[in-house]
Amino acid sequence: MIWGNFNYTCPMTTYIPTSQIYIPEGMIDLGAGDPDFALLPLDMLRHAAEACFAKDDPSFLQYGVEQGDGYFRIALAKFLSQRYGFPVDSNNLFVTNGISNALDLICARFTRPGDTIFVEEPTYFLALRIFADHDLRIVPIPTDGDGLIIDALDEKLGEFQPKFLYTVPTFQNPGGCTLTQDRRERLVQLSQEHDFLIVADEVYHFLNYSDQQIKPFAAYTDLETVISLSSFSKILAPGLRLGWMEAHPNNIKRLTSSGLLDSGGGLNPFTSAIVRELIEAGDLEQNITKLVVTYHSRLTAMEAALQREIPQAIFETPQGGFFFWVRLPDLDTGQLREDAKRFQVGLRQGALFSSQNGMQDYIRLCFAFYDEERIEEGIQRLGKCLNAIR
Ligand SMILES: Cc1ncc(COP(=O)(O)O)c(C=O)c1O
Repeated sequence: MIWGNFNYTCPMTTYIPTSQIYIPEGMIDLGAGDPDFALLPLDMLRHAAEACFAKDDPSFLQYGVEQGDGYFRIALAKFLSQRYGFPVDSNNLFVTNGISNALDLICARFTRPGDTIFVEEPTYFLALRIFADHDLRIVPIPTDGDGLIIDALDEKLGEFQPKFLYTVPTFQNPGGCTLTQDRRERLVQLSQEHDFLIVADEVYHFLNYSDQQIKPFAAYTDLETVISLSSFSKILAPGLRLGWMEAHPNNIKRLTSSGLLDSGGGLNPFTSAIVRELIEAGDLEQNITKLVVTYHSRLTAMEAALQREIPQAIFETPQGGFFFWVRLPDLDTGQLREDAKRFQVGLRQGALFSSQNGMQDYIRLCFAFYDEERIEEGIQRLGKCLNAIR
């Protein structure tokens, strides 16, 4: 087994799993959408945990308040207000175990089996799995380089009454695209006219490698039709299982009055207290700044390698996030994923991200998990594979 530090080879003969990701030795898996092990901020979290334990206040070891640790929400609201450039009220924040957990909770509290929801085509494939757990009927809405196509949404609204629309509006996974401001306004307007929730997954919002200012959906959460989800998974560490939701108080009330929170209390008070220390020390800001510089350089390396090694690849260079969404016209990319294994390179085939088994000649490549050298080597291997199967 190989993990983030690529000089490290596990001395054990038996693989003992510790993280969700497993990459056989020698393989470069450009499909893996995880942060690089080497960028997980071990020291920052160690210091924050030490500061937390040094306070001699055990309240973070108690069952937490349903909405989430109040001191953590105040620190987070201050951080978000500075970052977004508009005030965020800690009373409108709800602490989650991350976006996956938030999606599951929203499905549990806002839908019933058989209800219709809208998703983008393509969309984050693991969200589709969560929606399947709740037996929801999925209606896909097409996207282009400017994100969700609002005219297509408008048309579908004539046919269906969705409970919610799930969107990744900024640096989308997998498409890399960002919804334009004009489309954001129209989308919000439609949600009010047709009374459906917008569930905006803003996980990549802070991983912006351009000068472009993007208004998050968090800015619209004074409306009951908009919920903004975010997470520390891509700006600190996914193992924290910590995220937040910004929403109208009525929506928060609906979520907090659940059996899950009645029984277990608020989500993740222990981790919230540690991350609060880290935010108050200014370390979150520092970590994001470092990630933006690092990932931008990796993005540039992948773009150049794709142009050099795979001239037939069709793509728009993303301005943020983790992914290139690449079209290889007329290729069955499910088969390509199998063929690529022989060249020791991994990818994710487009069909995974489609709720209707479309997108068959697309692939998703991640530039976050490996450094520039590995990215170039991986794209070179993919180029060789493509030449061999042509
Ligand atoms: C669009 C999107 N949403 C949500 C997640 C998962 O977020 P979390 O770790 O907060 O559950 C990911 C992770 O890859 C993602 O790409």
